[in-house]
Amino acid sequence: MAKPGRVLFIDDEEEVRLAYSDSIRLEGYDVVAIESAAEALEHISQNWNGIIISDIKMPLMDGMELLSKVNKIDNKIPVILITGHGDIELAVTAMHQGAYDFITKPVDPLQILDIVRRSLEKRNLVLENRDLRIALDSLGAMEQKLIGKSPEMQALRQSIVDLAPLNVEVLINGATGTGKEVTARCLHNFGVRTGRFVAINCGAIPASVIESELFGHEAGSFTSAQKTRTGKIEYADGGTLFLDEIESMPLQAQIMLLRVLEERTITRLGGNEEIPVDIRLIAASKTDLKQAVADKLFREDLYYRLQVVSLDLSPLKHRSKDIPMLFQHFTKLASLKYRRPVPELSPYFLQILLQHDWPGNIRELRNEAERFVLGQVPAATEQVQDQNDQKCSSSLNELLANYEKKLIQDALLQNSGKIEHTADELGIPRKTLYLRMQKYNIKRKIYL
Ligand SMILES: Nc1ncnc2c1ncn2[C@@H]1O[C@H](COP(=O)(O)OP(=O)(O)OP(=O)(O)O)[C@@H](O)[C@H]1O
Ligand SMILES: [Mg+2]
Repeated sequence: MAKPGRVLFIDDEEEVRLAYSDSIRLEGYDVVAIESAAEALEHISQNWNGIIISDIKMPLMDGMELLSKVNKIDNKIPVILITGHGDIELAVTAMHQGAYDFITKPVDPLQILDIVRRSLEKRNLVLENRDLRIALDSLGAMEQKLIGKSPEMQALRQSIVDLAPLNVEVLINGATGTGKEVTARCLHNFGVRTGRFVAINCGAIPASVIESELFGHEAGSFTSAQKTRTGKIEYADGGTLFLDEIESMPLQAQIMLLRVLEERTITRLGGNEEIPVDIRLIAASKTDLKQAVADKLFREDLYYRLQVVSLDLSPLKHRSKDIPMLFQHFTKLASLKYRRPVPELSPYFLQILLQHDWPGNIRELRNEAERFVLGQVPAATEQVQDQNDQKCSSSLNELLANYEKKLIQDALLQNSGKIEHTADELGIPRKTLYLRMQKYNIKRKIYL
């Protein structure tokens, strides 16, 4: 196998060109021998992985002009110039203008091989750094879309950066409001596909219409089809098709979808023509698709095709660390939307947010933040207060216990979960604090 990177060897003299390119090739490099500088330019582009070795003196475009043209395309592509004997002045000028190195005639084959190795290594390094920077930029931009510092969110953002440029199908599993659609959009937006992101919710479309929605139809193919209509798959050509709630897709449509994935063509309903489509499919499911397969509600072949790469989004209650940050983000958005100031978030309220189960996950948190900004009693508070009221009404002991629990939680919150400081503030020994926390099932980690 050839070593990574390509060598363009340019010389108008055939003998020289063939001799040197052969010796470089023998060392395991991928070499292209070229007669003119103009032809060489056709091979390169920004981020092209290779180096150029060129004679300086050539008819039409000489090596110096080539150097300046290459610099305009990508000034980090190493260009090595071969100068005539005693032409040291020209060589120095070339170096000033950004040439990687120069070789004087008569060319020493060992020197050429050494330069090829060094310059290709340098080129690889430059390209690796560029890739890394793009990945880091994407990660930074994604932190604005997918907020959260929990390990789960960090891993999700990293997976999106890794998967976005690939054309693989991705299955996103997660309960309602966990961020399946934002994840799908990020996979598209941080990827390289230039077409549209087309979303379709299989659960919201009647089974009788879904095939026509997906595949489109020819005029007259059924009673209400007066005009030819392009389906969503065709519309997503060159882009991404997001099939939400794929678990609700009728079995017949599943067979048709699998065919699209295998053959990469579609036929409109009532039509004969096979239309090539280039789509990337991203599917989302709220339920366990494997179970749906066992229940014969989902086709096994389609399931295996989709689950090659899957992302599992965890419920918000399992990553409560993200709650304060997300809540702040949503209150800020709501304050802009409703032109209202953000009310102060009391430690007690924050703690209620941390305790809540969030069955509607991030969407529920977002709605709660809107209610908070609008000055309405937040639903999560009501629920926890209801629970407290029920408990309080039963006995004085429970009332006191509730009060004590709240004091401890407040103190832990204020002291970021530090046991020693919390115990000091409450004026009790550390051991007593531990015992009380155990009694009230207060988890220290959510305050850290
Ligand atoms: N990590 C996150 N950071 C910021 N906003 C988020 C995050 N995850 C989700 N959201 C926001 O929460 C809301 C719900 O997310 P989304 O619509 O992607 O969820 P979903 O899993 O598709 O929900 P459903 O299953 O109900 O369709 C959206 O407004 C989305 O922008
Ligand atoms: Mg959704």
